[in-house]
Amino acid sequence: MNSADSPVAICPIARKHIAGFRDCLNAVSRERRYLAFLKAPPLPAVRKFILGNIRTGNPQFVAMKDGRVVGWCDICRMNRPTYLHAGILGVGILKEFRGQGLGRRLILAALERARKVGIERVELTVYVSNKRAIRLYKSVGFVREGVKRKGRKLNGTYEDVLMMAKL
Ligand SMILES: CC(C)(COP(=O)(O)OP(=O)(O)OC[C@H]1O[C@@H](n2cnc3c(N)ncnc32)[C@H](O)[C@@H]1OP(=O)(O)O)[C@@H](O)C(=O)NCCC(=O)NCCS
Repeated sequence: MNSADSPVAICPIARKHIAGFRDCLNAVSRERRYLAFLKAPPLPAVRKFILGNIRTGNPQFVAMKDGRVVGWCDICRMNRPTYLHAGILGVGILKEFRGQGLGRRLILAALERARKVGIERVELTVYVSNKRAIRLYKSVGFVREGVKRKGRKLNGTYEDVLMMAKL
């Protein structure tokens, strides 16, 4: 099997993935189209985030191709006492790996883990222009709960932000 044929593995994030995860987050952020970040946070902040997720059992999975992180999905439990049953989902795939089912595989792995650790409500926000993401979220059971009008502003341009959740 040559490298082009090697499968993409979905695995729980580990300490060894920290730098690769940051590179992946950075690449998707720099597209400036899909995420709230416009670039990845500094490495120490990313390390703290990931080690926190590992320690607390927050679901976080990475898609690995030939040792490289090409995608991720995390569900971060909210930390207010009355919101502890809820978590916020984030997901991203490198451009060249989109449309191959990896987003679906990552989200399903994270949702399964969320169920096991007792997260009862998973919520997310998505820009209304992000049709691919919205279609994927709907297909795995997320429903629209509302819209933050002009919720995003970049270079003077606004966009509505959809709020979705799955119970
Ligand atoms: C959104 C994203 C995570 C989806 O992951 P993906 O691996 O590209 O999507 P998948 O291949 O798993 O496809 C899942 C579903 O998305 C939809 N989809 C896939 N490609 C699509 C396309 N080009 N146009 C419209 N819908 C598409 C389909 O409904 C597909 O289901 P199907 O296979 O039954 O047709 C990924 O495209 C991505 O990282 N985008 C940039 C970052 C981002 O938008 N993150 C989410 C911010 S809220």
